[in-house]
Amino acid sequence: MSSKPIPILPGLPVIGNLLEFSRDRLALYQRIETQCGEIGAYRLFTKPFAVTGNAELAYNLLVEQHTHFERSPVMLMMKPILGEGLLTTNNAANAQQRQEIISVFQAERYPEYAKLIVEKTQQLCQNWQCGQTLNLSNAMQELTLGIISQALFSTDVLQEFPELTQAIGNLLHYTDQRLKFMLPIPLSWPLPINQKLNASIKPLNTLLSQFISQRRRNLKTSPQDLLSLLLNTNDSVTQKPLSNHQIRDQILTFLFAGHETTAHTLSWAFYLLAKNPAVYERLKEEVNTVLQEAPPTYEDLKKLPYVLQVIKETLRLYPVAYAFGRTALCPLQLGQYHVPQGLVVLVSPYIMHRNPTYFSEPERFAPERFTPKYETQIPRFAYLPFGAGPRSCIGRQFALMEAQLILALLTQKFRFRLLNENQITPLPMVTLRPSREIEVQVNSSKTCNKYS
Ligand code: HEM
Repeated sequence: MSSKPIPILPGLPVIGNLLEFSRDRLALYQRIETQCGEIGAYRLFTKPFAVTGNAELAYNLLVEQHTHFERSPVMLMMKPILGEGLLTTNNAANAQQRQEIISVFQAERYPEYAKLIVEKTQQLCQNWQCGQTLNLSNAMQELTLGIISQALFSTDVLQEFPELTQAIGNLLHYTDQRLKFMLPIPLSWPLPINQKLNASIKPLNTLLSQFISQRRRNLKTSPQDLLSLLLNTNDSVTQKPLSNHQIRDQILTFLFAGHETTAHTLSWAFYLLAKNPAVYERLKEEVNTVLQEAPPTYEDLKKLPYVLQVIKETLRLYPVAYAFGRTALCPLQLGQYHVPQGLVVLVSPYIMHRNPTYFSEPERFAPERFTPKYETQIPRFAYLPFGAGPRSCIGRQFALMEAQLILALLTQKFRFRLLNENQITPLPMVTLRPSREIEVQVNSSKTCNKYS
């Protein structure tokens, strides 16, 4: 097959497309698709980055040729914070870690996880009053952080280490700032942003170290969660038990990867429902018919297909992992294109999911797209909210179940009215978050039939 160079978008002298990238990178990605086609590149100074929203190229990169690529420097910019956790390690170390960790995501654990998710959601909303104003974004973050820490580490970080929430919030904020300009500034440089980040990391490390040591002392009587599993695992190279530092990296990775993503997905879902009353009505009908007055259970999940469709369609329009990248380890061919060694190629589900070739009327919020019948018609690898291949999301099933249960329970009890009807745009930071926090008025689902 003949090989052609990846087209490069014109940019400014010296800085290339830096300004556009910093201002609105989703628009930049979209411009690349319009002007360059299935793949194209932008430049930050002299460094090119290729972007694709093409399903076949994504499959070729993430699955067929995955051994020829490593994690991109974008993800590696989080290494100073997340260390050698599952998200940031190289492929070889990842494969070993993943094999150990996967056991906490086995099917038989899910009924217990479902119970926990429902309990935590009930606790969160038990004091909500009709008419009160609620910052839904914060509420979802608090909820999903509590769930992931209890599920994987048998500890509610919010209750036992309230400072941890603030520290994780700071980490996210400063990581966002670093990613904004894509400058891999070493943490040791005495810049205000680094000082603030370091100031957050120190207490966090102390807290996590206390937490791990406490558990190490009581390991025999500890619950069989991810923390116990890590404490019983040996390092693949040294064959010695994992150190506190290695375990700290995994804990932080899971707290990081496992809460923001699901929280923003839920915030986007409630936002879209508020803007699409007919979808809300259908959702409410399914929830009320199936659950009546009872809280949802693991067994109810398959009886609530429309709830899951709403989540999947939300992830189509607002895939929180809006782009993820790989670096080519050698010169290679991707489809018809030549990829030089060292080139970073980003797959963007955001661009892919809005391509009319894959999804008709792509801007429309239409959960019917994900009925089992329609789902099979979606071209292979054209829907990638959780990635694909050996580095795809390890928490996919957990996240979908969590979002389905929370959405069902909160819809059964409440309806949320947006306090600010203005359009919310997606803000591409570490994840694709709403451009402003979503504030709602809480109403009982019983007092009003219509979502207004
Ligand atoms: C709606 C929620 C979520 C979305 C959209 C999402 C999306 C993703 C995507 C796209 C990747 C792959 C990135 C790449 O290929 O470079 C990924 C990786 C990962 N996710 Fe998720 N995720 C979600 C929830 C979760 C949850 C709940 C957990 C933990 C329980 C989790 C843990 C991870 C980890 C550890 C990785 C790295 C996997 C590896 O490299 O082996 N995620 N996620």
